[in-house]
Amino acid sequence: MTQSFQNVRGTHDFTPGESRLFSSLNSRARQTFALYGYEEIILPILEEEAVFKKGVGETSDIVERQMFKIARRAESGDEEQIVLRPEGTAQVARYFIQNSLHKQGDFYKFFYMGAMFRGERPQKGRLRQFNHIGAEALGSRSPWLDAEVVALADSLITDFGIKEKELKINNLGCKADKERFAVLLQERLEALRSGLCVDCQRRLDKNPLRVIDCKNSQCKKIVESLKLGDEHICPDCKSHFAQVLTALDQSEVKYAVVPTLVRGLDYYTNTVFEFTSSSLGSQDACGAGGRYDGLLASLGGSPIPAIGFALGVERLMLALGEAQEEPLLDVYVTAVSAELIAQAVKITDHLRREGVRADTDYCGKSLKAQLRQAERKAARFSIVIGPDELKENSVMVKDMKEGKQEKVKIEELILKIKERN
Ligand code: HAM
Repeated sequence: MTQSFQNVRGTHDFTPGESRLFSSLNSRARQTFALYGYEEIILPILEEEAVFKKGVGETSDIVERQMFKIARRAESGDEEQIVLRPEGTAQVARYFIQNSLHKQGDFYKFFYMGAMFRGERPQKGRLRQFNHIGAEALGSRSPWLDAEVVALADSLITDFGIKEKELKINNLGCKADKERFAVLLQERLEALRSGLCVDCQRRLDKNPLRVIDCKNSQCKKIVESLKLGDEHICPDCKSHFAQVLTALDQSEVKYAVVPTLVRGLDYYTNTVFEFTSSSLGSQDACGAGGRYDGLLASLGGSPIPAIGFALGVERLMLALGEAQEEPLLDVYVTAVSAELIAQAVKITDHLRREGVRADTDYCGKSLKAQLRQAERKAARFSIVIGPDELKENSVMVKDMKEGKQEKVKIEELILKIKERN
């Protein structure tokens, strides 16, 4: 029996229509990033495991159980621990430090687009290889920057056409606030330990904040019963967050403050946020981010404050559905018989040279089948080349939308198509 191959579980083959939408989202994002002064960086898919262990946190789900590892022996004979990057923030921080940008005291705004890898249990909207459109701004602690970054993410999601979106925002406070919060949580949850899931009982000892974003319904109920407030946040961090909200109000960005939003990556401090869309089902987050003022120092750099976000492109595409299909061709050139291929190719070439998107049939199909192909490619016009029309140096042009057809002189073809397109 011959073996039949399938794509790897948790990966997705984009069809031509999906690929068009994917490219269109990326190019629209590039335009918006340019408006906000962000520069593109393209970083490798392979990265040292330690970057994420130190950056994202040893007890985060990503590091504990989701990284795709590639163990290999370096020329020195030592074992190298390389991974497929699970996210972009720690990687951008590594790039920043490696290039000594932290020593120059400047302010940098970067964006990136590319594949990320996480060994999660695949389901709708949750893949093992997925794409991020991300942005990171490094070198400022201003609450106005927090608001700009949130507004930029909001503007991208709105411009893409995502409906029923919600923005949740929270204040985690500084490192000391987070440590206070962890102690407070541990104390309050200890008495309720037996009601938590097995994972959360372990998390309670290692990293109590992780209990807060557990999806288990019993854990959620316990967390709700704690009625968490902001008593662990210091006055400076309270004031920073109040200014972020004022700046968001000024930019007319709508949000809801949600005290249980903690995010699953350990580097976050102060402002954290998440965009959800009710059209997405259980995996409803289509983008998220936050401040990470301690990350650069924890990777060996200077204590540079920073903030950023990443949007999940496949989730955005799921939320958009197929509404955004764009026509592939302006003109599909058909011939009534296979002998006329030379004329069909000549006219197709002529159209393309004039900037008209055109294609023709190379399979010797019947005229009916060629016209079906023109429909499948959503061509705006089809051209029929026949011997009688050719004698008059003409072709038949059919408007595929309106169904009308007319005989057009070949020398007037381009003008007519451009006029009506
Ligand atoms: P994240 O929340 O892990 O954050 O990922 C951002 C977005 O990527 C999510 O909101 C979701 O839309 C999408 N995503 C995550 N995992 C998957 C998956 N398995 N399948 C499909 N889509 C997924 C980060 O990665 C941070 N680096 C964001 C950030 C940038 N924070 C500061 N700067």
